[in-house]
Amino acid sequence: MTDMRQLIAGNWKMHGRLAEVAAYAEAIRKAPAHVDILICPPFTLLDRFAAALSSSAVALGAQDCHPTPQGAHTGDISAQMLAETGATHVILGHSERRENHGESNAVVMAKAQAAIAAGLTPIVCVGETEDQRNEGEAEGVVRGQLAHSLPAKFAGVVAYEPIWAIGTGRTPTEADVTTMHATIRTALLAQLGEAGRGIKILYGGSVKPSNAATLLALPEVGGALVGGASLQAEDLLAIAASAPRS
Ligand code: 13P
Repeated sequence: MTDMRQLIAGNWKMHGRLAEVAAYAEAIRKAPAHVDILICPPFTLLDRFAAALSSSAVALGAQDCHPTPQGAHTGDISAQMLAETGATHVILGHSERRENHGESNAVVMAKAQAAIAAGLTPIVCVGETEDQRNEGEAEGVVRGQLAHSLPAKFAGVVAYEPIWAIGTGRTPTEADVTTMHATIRTALLAQLGEAGRGIKILYGGSVKPSNAATLLALPEVGGALVGGASLQAEDLLAIAASAPRS
């Protein structure tokens, strides 16, 4: 990998109120300097967060975007609109969106193209269900998601989030994370050529201060996508502190 600094990203999902932003931003500014920190709050908090994090090293991201720049799409928000708030990243194809909003790989790819065109860094999520893992299909499922969700000129981040590990307190074994991240790297190189070497691969799913050091030290793990534990700044800071130094 060209950039060995780890990325610790917090996905707030549908949590967080305006009143919480100032204290959280103040706390997260004190993040250790050997990692990159990214906070992805709901759309409604982006503008306030951008102001609260100004002149800090903490980056800001959104959790979704529409594939087109503008138009008759009630309730949707474009990548350009996100970029205007100060966001630099956008999570795309999270399993909760694939499942709850019927997002196909093709839709995720279109969103990733839109994000890149708007100057945002897409974080494309992939991951298998528990049944798929039990059937021995996990790697094939993830390879398929990568093949059909990543545009040909993908420049961004991939997050491996086994669906059964999200919000459950369960995580895959170290061997399973290692195998899957190696599989993802191989697929990225096959799809993107040498450019695939520089793509960070995050692990997500029940990352906590107590397991972060182990997960983040595994080969080809370039950081974490943290849900529940990112809502408390001190937990995200503890996870960041446990990331290896490059
Ligand atoms: P948890 O960390 O709450 O398991 O969520 C993971 C996730 O979905 C991050 O995108």
